[in-house]
Amino acid sequence: MTATSPPPILATEGVTKRFGGVVAVDGVSIGIQAGTVTGLIGPNGSGKSTLFRLVSGEIPPDSGRVLLRGEAVQGRGASEINRLGIGRTFQLSRLYPQMSALENLVAVTRAPAAVAQARAMDVLEFVGLTALADEYAANLSYGQQKLVEFARVLVNDPDVILLDEPFAGVNPAMEERIIDRVHDLRRAGKTFLITDHEMRLIMALCSRLVVLDHGELIADGTPQAVRADPKVIEAYFGS
Ligand SMILES: Nc1ncnc2c1ncn2[C@@H]1O[C@H](COP(=O)(O)OP(=O)(O)OP(=O)(O)O)[C@@H](O)[C@H]1O
Ligand SMILES: [Mg+2]
Repeated sequence: MTATSPPPILATEGVTKRFGGVVAVDGVSIGIQAGTVTGLIGPNGSGKSTLFRLVSGEIPPDSGRVLLRGEAVQGRGASEINRLGIGRTFQLSRLYPQMSALENLVAVTRAPAAVAQARAMDVLEFVGLTALADEYAANLSYGQQKLVEFARVLVNDPDVILLDEPFAGVNPAMEERIIDRVHDLRRAGKTFLITDHEMRLIMALCSRLVVLDHGELIADGTPQAVRADPKVIEAYFGS
């Protein structure tokens, strides 16, 4: 970092998480600037979702720190960290299938009841789902459900948004819609950390990639530099 760069909005400092004998996340330090889109990539089981869980407060690290706007927040718990401005989607859908798209948003919004519906409708409109607001989540296509998940994160207006495999199983039209909305939100100052195996989309969307392998950070740089990094090629294609 140069002397002139602002402090990162989000940082991890040496975060480590073990599950039994597995070191799922191993001493990872990353600083992320506000208003940027960073891709978190790595082979299956490399620790991406675990790092998301650590940053969003679902699980505490065994050691290391998570800093939001310079303040240590590890150990605060998921709901408080969410209130402080970190929102996330999940790799597998957590929508309530027997609630409508709108109700799924209203159920999590912290806006006062009088404005919760309007806030939820605004966000559904933003992602292009107004016409499906009253449809049960269970009746939506997989891609539409992914979009509702995305909308559900936005409803509380987090500053930092973690997306865990937003493109998995999503058709090209929906991919494009998610990408456009991420760009809109980045221009409005939001910060994204996105993990996905769809490398073409990650390369197109992110200005920076960080790469995990067996829980360790093995590369951090522009998509072009990371793609050409022998350590990354080895992690993906090595035996
Ligand atoms: N709750 C858990 N209990 C035990 N082991 C776990 C737990 N969660 C994750 N792991 C292990 O930690 C490692 C990292 O898993 P993680 O889910 O973070 O990987 P990932 O990079 O998100 O993988 P994928 O690309 O398949 O989603 C794996 O070895 C996994 O089996
Ligand atoms: Mg994962």
